[in-house]
Amino acid sequence: MIIGGYELMDEIGSGGFADVYKCKKISDGSIKAIKIADLNDDNEKIRFKREIRMQSSLTHKNIVPILDYNTVEEPFFYTMPLGKMNLERYIEKVSVEEEKIEIFKDIAEGLKYAHKKVVHRDLKPGNIIIFCEDGVATPKICDFGLGKFSIRDSTILTKTSHYVGTPYYIAPEQLDNPKTVDKRSDIYALGKILYIMITGENVYSYDISKIPSEYRYIITKACERNPDDRYQDVDELLKDLDQRLPKDPLKLINEEIEKIVDSNDYSKFQTEFLAKILSQNSIHDEILLMLPNIPKKILKSLLDNHKELFFIVLTDYDDSVKGEVNYNYCDVVADFYCEIFKLSESLEVRSLIINRLAKLGAHHNRYHVGQTFSRIVNSNNNNIEIMLMAKKALESKETREFNYGYLTDKSIKILERI
Ligand SMILES: Nc1ncnc2c1ncn2[C@@H]1O[C@H](COP(=O)(O)OP(=O)(O)OP(=O)(O)O)[C@@H](O)[C@H]1O
Ligand SMILES: [Mg+2]
Repeated sequence: MIIGGYELMDEIGSGGFADVYKCKKISDGSIKAIKIADLNDDNEKIRFKREIRMQSSLTHKNIVPILDYNTVEEPFFYTMPLGKMNLERYIEKVSVEEEKIEIFKDIAEGLKYAHKKVVHRDLKPGNIIIFCEDGVATPKICDFGLGKFSIRDSTILTKTSHYVGTPYYIAPEQLDNPKTVDKRSDIYALGKILYIMITGENVYSYDISKIPSEYRYIITKACERNPDDRYQDVDELLKDLDQRLPKDPLKLINEEIEKIVDSNDYSKFQTEFLAKILSQNSIHDEILLMLPNIPKKILKSLLDNHKELFFIVLTDYDDSVKGEVNYNYCDVVADFYCEIFKLSESLEVRSLIINRLAKLGAHHNRYHVGQTFSRIVNSNNNNIEIMLMAKKALESKETREFNYGYLTDKSIKILERI
């Protein structure tokens, strides 16, 4: 079939409102990609024209150029250079982290440039095409501004049926009210793209515990629900990406703690940097070891304001005290956990604490740990959630026998009953 001087070859794929084909330009035999639109009404035609104009005006190494287009008679189409594959497939092929990060930075550079003029609205791996330039894999973003069309489709689909086309890259505000979209919605998508590139996971199984520590802060900040909490522009994100691993994290953390204490300001904003370096470095034992020294007010701010991030740090800590722990250090863990228990109402946090204390005391036969555990349980034995956590933690004979020695008869009776 020939359309507007192009002979269609293999179909590459089709999306919300168009089909993409490999094609041959008849006049010179060159091979291109052609996107043929399927538009519903005049309104969409006007928008399609406008978006072609918009994308044509974007000239950047990481944006797919529009070579030629027809918006006079139907079918409307435009042509572009033919890429090797999209990012979705490319991700399956690369495993070297540096390479992934280079690709990601290129994508971010393209987006940063585009943001001077336009919001993409539908940034996702299918709209990022990998080209080979001078032997180097080079990503280029396509479908700028066309997100309006695919969002039309995916929104309708998600409203009528549960799982079809759920747009995991689309920021929450974009679904709630498409009119409020700004460049921060693209930042959200960029965060999800970094997530899948780094973890190799599917975007629909988004789970912060799967993110390697040095990327946790960056990805969670980019993917915050509230646009005000995200990076406000691509540059902020890129800067964090370049500085993701501080040279001497322990020193930095101690300085930061001192700074917060001196300022006597424990707001979310003030403890954000600390949350960031902690979460980026919680793989290091030296960082985990200093956690119990964090002043109480700072701990509270971390637990209240940087919940998700700090919980992951806590999980790393918890993993590190799971096995053999120095006898004396057991008591440090117990005091630290007891403090956190008082500071946080989060069930996730509390369950982690109860579970660990029950096992730690029994495993090391450490009476201070047994006492701490029982103090928490005894003073909360009217709280069914906590008692259920305790019951679960005491499932094994070893933990039960050790800890029953410290619990009051009343607590034990409740535990046996529920
Ligand atoms: N210039 C190109 N070179 C190679 N492949 C391309 C090019 N442009 C698009 N593609 C691929 O063609 C397929 C169809 O693209 P299309 O934009 O129609 O769908 P989509 O990106 O999946 O959805 P959406 O409608 O949301 O953009 C995708 O796999 C896309 O990655
Ligand atoms: Mg597309």
